[in-house]
Amino acid sequence: MTEQQRYTIDDFARFSPWPARLLGIEPWEQRRKTPEEILREYDEDKWGVMLERINQSPVPLTIADAERWDMDLPFQSFTWHDGVFQPMSFPEANAIYIRLVTDTLQACMPASAIAELGCGYGKVVLRLLTNGAFGAVPFYAAEYTQSGIDVTTKLAAAGGLPITMGWCDFNDPTLTNLAVPEGAVLYTSFATPYVPELQDAFIESLIARRPKAVVHFEPCYEHCSTTSLLGMMRRRYLEVNDYNRNLMTVLRKFRDAGKIAIEREDPAVFGSNPLLSASVVVWRPIQKEREQ
Ligand SMILES: C[S@@+](CC[C@H](N)C(=O)[O-])C[C@H]1O[C@@H](n2cnc3c(N)ncnc32)[C@H](O)[C@@H]1O
Repeated sequence: MTEQQRYTIDDFARFSPWPARLLGIEPWEQRRKTPEEILREYDEDKWGVMLERINQSPVPLTIADAERWDMDLPFQSFTWHDGVFQPMSFPEANAIYIRLVTDTLQACMPASAIAELGCGYGKVVLRLLTNGAFGAVPFYAAEYTQSGIDVTTKLAAAGGLPITMGWCDFNDPTLTNLAVPEGAVLYTSFATPYVPELQDAFIESLIARRPKAVVHFEPCYEHCSTTSLLGMMRRRYLEVNDYNRNLMTVLRKFRDAGKIAIEREDPAVFGSNPLLSASVVVWRPIQKEREQ
């Protein structure tokens, strides 16, 4: 039996241009996550191009078609999972991630509903619906871009997947136009990076929906070590891309004020890009006696 090769951060440069970029060997310009830039990246390019392909297809297209466009790439990922680097295809990495999301949300059940905020083209939420792990729990999803809303709606319809779709913006105090019932599990997945600095209103509007739990599968700047090479590279990566740097800071502020309880906080669990590894954070609002 051959021993499985152990990969280290030293192997990363063979899989990604990021070590060279972060070291200044390859050019990279500081990015800014403005609303215009996000709409260009997602509404026009990524989800806009998908919508165009769906609209032009003579047959209805499903989540499996969208996954092929998104993930069938001619190179491997250098996936980080539970403290280990492993080269693998993007579909393989995605299967691990969907398992992580499924298991984490199942541990929050029973709940009145499940809702994803910032769902993109539905990569996660539509797989939760197809894998049947949640029985008859009603699903909701909201997205920032109109093309993402349209793509998710069409892929769900083509697959016969029941979901209520809406809009959301983590920068907007109303948060979403979805009428999610009280007692739901709300989650976000790789979406908070697009708001460089989250405001208190984001957490307040989540609390106002009286969820059973809120789960973030999100890269957290505060979880990146300042005393390891990987941790420092993660911090620099989030900085030069202008990704979010205060999700845990705002959550800890609400916890310290007695408004929420953080029930799980696992740093950097999974990333098909190890520099953008999602932590798993589960919290719930603490309802005051008179409000209950
Ligand atoms: C990397 S994609 C992740 C999509 C999906 N959650 C997933 O895990 O596959 C990031 C998503 O965040 C959305 N987004 C960007 N800015 C946002 C904002 N201000 N509020 C909510 N979502 C936003 C983008 O439109 C995009 O669909």
